[in-house]
Amino acid sequence: MKKFFIVANWKSNKNAREAKEWFQELQSLNLKGQNLEEKEVVICPSFPLLNYTQHNLQTLKLAWHVGSQNISPFKQGAFTGEVNAEQVSEFAEYAIIGHSERRQHFGETDEMLAEKVAMALLAGLKPIFCIQGKDTPVPDGVAIVAYEPVFAIGSGHPDTPEDAEEVAKAIKEKHSGVQYVLYGGSITPDNMRSFTALEHISGGLVGGASLDPQKFMKIIENA
Ligand code: PGA
Repeated sequence: MKKFFIVANWKSNKNAREAKEWFQELQSLNLKGQNLEEKEVVICPSFPLLNYTQHNLQTLKLAWHVGSQNISPFKQGAFTGEVNAEQVSEFAEYAIIGHSERRQHFGETDEMLAEKVAMALLAGLKPIFCIQGKDTPVPDGVAIVAYEPVFAIGSGHPDTPEDAEEVAKAIKEKHSGVQYVLYGGSITPDNMRSFTALEHISGGLVGGASLDPQKFMKIIENA
């Protein structure tokens, strides 16, 4: 059976109280009856909420996973303000790397992102590497790629499933290590299935719609 990843990217949203409310609402959705076995769900909050998210998933007895939205390109040491991969790995299994918002607002280059991937792998974190198109370089060791065209992020205008499928296929052909390609950009409960129904797309990286537990659960169900 095809394996799916549904990844929530909360971006720079939610304080501890709001995260608590998210998990409380999730709990009220009666998760027990859901068959989510072939779906790997990953919640990526901002750094201060990694530990809390891990704790909540354990309390709810949900076999979901935690991911960070970024990591440092450096090991531990004199890098004020950075959070390194080893620190993240205490609370998370995944790390989103190379999101276009990081590239755009924080000047992250392909070289720096390759360093981040290397750091993630060294610490045992699984990178979810974001690409903006077929030609975005993918560092060695990346198994999960998320295709996120910039025009589709937060715009309400997703790419077409056909385009996404073409990119996913091309990426797998070009990089033999890439096992899964996810789509991201204006995913909703209504459009998720049109992407995951296609042969080469193995799930979604969900921004805005992941902030609402009801919508996020529907996306998981529909994937
Ligand atoms: P969006 O964001 O779902 O709000 O479009 C996706 C992303 O940036 O990961």
